[in-house]
Amino acid sequence: MWDYTEKVMDHYRNPRNVGKINDADAVGVAGSLTCGDQLKIYLKIKDNIVTDAKFQTFGCGSAVASSSILTEMIIGKSLEDVKKITNKDIADQLGGLPPEKMHCSVMGYEALEDALKNYGYQDLDDLREPEKAEKIVCTCFNVTENVIWDAIKQNGLKTVEDVTNYTKAGGACGRCKSLIKDIIDTYYAKVKSDNQLSPTQRILKINNIIETQISPELQKDGGDINLVDVKDNKVFVKLHGKCSSCKNATLTIKRFVEQTLKNAMDDNIEVIEV
Ligand code: FES
Repeated sequence: MWDYTEKVMDHYRNPRNVGKINDADAVGVAGSLTCGDQLKIYLKIKDNIVTDAKFQTFGCGSAVASSSILTEMIIGKSLEDVKKITNKDIADQLGGLPPEKMHCSVMGYEALEDALKNYGYQDLDDLREPEKAEKIVCTCFNVTENVIWDAIKQNGLKTVEDVTNYTKAGGACGRCKSLIKDIIDTYYAKVKSDNQLSPTQRILKINNIIETQISPELQKDGGDINLVDVKDNKVFVKLHGKCSSCKNATLTIKRFVEQTLKNAMDDNIEVIEV
């Protein structure tokens, strides 16, 4: 039996925004019925703002919960903000999902991305290789190379088993497992070469990650962070506001900061609060 959070159970029992928008401005689909689950998301968009969102899904309770919370996360948001939402954000909003169910959050991310593409809002990130977007790696579950690449990147996945949990790829006949392993190796080789920066470039990159990925998250809860210094793999930071007022919270935040930097830079980063 899976261990679900209260929020997952709430969205499963009382899903929000279920249904279809007949005059939708954008529709996105992910998964397929033959593979066991499918999500279709409908968006109304005005002046680059998502004014309404609905979904139809055929899937398990986590798929319903992920789709339901996703619609709540995007209504009222600009397309620019919507584009930044990752599967990890969806799972985080639900208070987490069991590892074996993370693929449901990935399905939400994929459907949203498909809707934005269909709307003509394409802005693929710098690590992505667009020509690979439609290359199917796992034929059993119809999973493309880019979906696997994004899941690795957004969640710091390290093993084929991780990728199976997050995307389903590799979870049936297993023929694609060696390809998945190749993608994992290619991704980390690329990250490593990206990280062979001069000391100044490295500091600038760390500062950029703090400003664009970490600080906005902390600000949501009334806190913030400043980069103080970088010495080799040690990153010295100062926490502000609510982030600095509670010892337990500080420990959790330090882990979040460290993991985000590790995912974006390398595993040797150590965060020290000053
Ligand atoms: S091809 Fe991926 S599990 Fe069969």
